[in-house]
Amino acid sequence: MKGKPTILKLGGSAITDKSKPLTPRINVISRLAKEISKANITPLIIIHGGGSYGHPIALKYHVKDGFKGSRQLIGFVKTHEAMVSLNSIIVDTLIKSGVSAFRMPPSSFMFMKGEDVQVFGEELLLHALKIGLTPVLYGDVILNAERGFTIISGDKIASTLAAKLDVERVIMAVDVDGVYTANPKIDASARLIPRLTLNEIDQVCSRSEGRVMDVTGGMTGKLLELRDVVKLGVNVLIVNALKPDNIYKALKGESVVGTRIIKE
Ligand code: IPE
Repeated sequence: MKGKPTILKLGGSAITDKSKPLTPRINVISRLAKEISKANITPLIIIHGGGSYGHPIALKYHVKDGFKGSRQLIGFVKTHEAMVSLNSIIVDTLIKSGVSAFRMPPSSFMFMKGEDVQVFGEELLLHALKIGLTPVLYGDVILNAERGFTIISGDKIASTLAAKLDVERVIMAVDVDGVYTANPKIDASARLIPRLTLNEIDQVCSRSEGRVMDVTGGMTGKLLELRDVVKLGVNVLIVNALKPDNIYKALKGESVVGTRIIKE
């Protein structure tokens, strides 16, 4: 393996239509696969979110709250299967574009205790990277020593990988241009913040308190998770995957509209 891995998280709101259950944005996924293939960055780890696949089922069965009773078990496995279906679409599309995309289900090699990932099969991941594969992970259900089970978001996976592996950078592909002063989907006065430091993250998060958009926390949850990544000195870039060439440019390190998050 030459150099440190880049982590690319494809947000569920970019790769699926969150307003309709189980609806992938096939055109976006195909274009992103071509951009990833063309950029040809190695080593690269791809993580994708749940969007309209994982979230609605996880919510219905309160999977994130942990095991409370056996009636939830069917919801736990259904959430996982929904994520496997979405992952198959992503992996197939990447393979068709010439990327050696290798599905690595987080629930098969990670184990949590409370909020922390306690067991993490980094040897598997590092070996896959070493031989030139592009691992594709995803927000998943996960077994949890304290709670029975829970959900691990793609963002949590990204911060876990950043903490356990020596990573180069984290690119978060979302459906807006980056972090705004307010929610750009409902507030016309919202302005894009091109650069954020660790301290400024806290200010942005306190302003948006209470606006949780999905089971794993929306943009506020994302920033809180990314805080830990930036603390380690790993730079983060949040960029709009719905705009053609953005992911290509981000991977190549070219200038692109977005929010850069740095330690200071
Ligand atoms: C959620 O993953 C996965 C499940 C609900 C099983 P993420 O939290 O990373 O998904 P998005 O990107 O926000 O949709």
